[in-house]
Amino acid sequence: MTAAGSGSFGNDFEQLWKALAPIGRDDRTGGYRRYSWTPAHQECERWFRDEAGRRDLTVEADGNGNLVAWWRPDPARVTGGVVTGSHLDSVPDGGAYDGPLGVVSAFAALDAIRAGGAAAGAGASAPTRPLGIAVFAEEEGARFGVPCLGSRLLTGALEPDRARGLRDADGVPLTDAMERAGVPVDLGPAPGLLRAPSAFVELHVEQGRALADLGAPVAVARDIWPHGRWRFEFGGRADHAGTTAMADRHDPMLTYAMTALAANKRARLTNARTTFGRVRVEPNATNAVPSLVRAWLDARAADEASLDALVEEIRRQAGDRAQRDGTRLEVHPESWTPRVEFDVRLRDRVAARLGSPPVLSTQAGHDAGILAAAGIPAAMLFVRNPTGVSHAPEEYAEPADCLAGVDALAAVLTDLLAG
Ligand code: HGY
Ligand code: MN
Ligand code: MN
Repeated sequence: MTAAGSGSFGNDFEQLWKALAPIGRDDRTGGYRRYSWTPAHQECERWFRDEAGRRDLTVEADGNGNLVAWWRPDPARVTGGVVTGSHLDSVPDGGAYDGPLGVVSAFAALDAIRAGGAAAGAGASAPTRPLGIAVFAEEEGARFGVPCLGSRLLTGALEPDRARGLRDADGVPLTDAMERAGVPVDLGPAPGLLRAPSAFVELHVEQGRALADLGAPVAVARDIWPHGRWRFEFGGRADHAGTTAMADRHDPMLTYAMTALAANKRARLTNARTTFGRVRVEPNATNAVPSLVRAWLDARAADEASLDALVEEIRRQAGDRAQRDGTRLEVHPESWTPRVEFDVRLRDRVAARLGSPPVLSTQAGHDAGILAAAGIPAAMLFVRNPTGVSHAPEEYAEPADCLAGVDALAAVLTDLLAG
């Protein structure tokens, strides 16, 4: 199975995919555990550097853990290029496609362009603009809690001091984790890494079923819903599970449980999304009333006012319940991403180049959204996912649709590189 037009510059999509797929996959769950700057993730970055080296690309890094592999058809031209790519880190037991599909497809699309395949289009002039294949750091925020950490730092959307204060679940500071992985640490804005790109295009597996229902292999993104993360801390009074009468308890697990139910109800009533997917209990003993329950709310809505109202109502109901339970409540915002509308002119140019595929809104955050918010013209392509599932091992894309994605990306990049 080879990408249409893939040529003499090395691996086709299947070989690229086969080399990456086993890295960081858990045999028991079938999911991926590629947490930033752990051995599995470092192996992914070695794969990236090897594939770049195989193509004589120049790999550059910033001090935030981001990488870009450059193809410079005209060595004298290093700015104003086109950048594509995505991320290689995963959520715990994530799927194979979320992130890696964008990076593998970028290499395959470059192969097709350099082979002058169908992607080049009739009479297309040889590109002179540079093409960068990017891998952004800690996009999922699975280890250090802030999603799109690398692209936020790169664009100045996150204060370096805030990042320096981040620790993983074992208390390892971000900078220690990076240094131990041999990554150069210099947190902060790094405009030089992308070299003033004329456009950024991210290909990503669809995290939903719209394309499956529409019967189309590829879509273009319209916008990303605003979304954020809040850490709810429910403080109670630890006590014995047996000798403590129910009326004497100050049990934070009850306050948390009612808050989770309230969040669920509010989201259903307002067509929003709320998830408490991560909870930590202290002392986490079967026969002890907890002293503390930490729970992270992921909330998303179609617009910022609705999202603010949603979180405020959840916080209010949590506070009321805490009063009843005699427990304490603290709510700490951990990340916030405004609504992003992708560059309309670029979106329409991409859609026209692809014969007007579906244009979809998404509730999933992406580095493309962070770059767009920083003023870089950005676009996204989605590849059909017949299961509609993401952030789980069931996430999937048919090989034929993956190749359709490569062809679409190659066609779009060819157009933008000549532009
Ligand atoms: O959580 C998200 O929206 C993305 O998959 N990182
Ligand atoms: Mn994801
Ligand atoms: Mn992703």
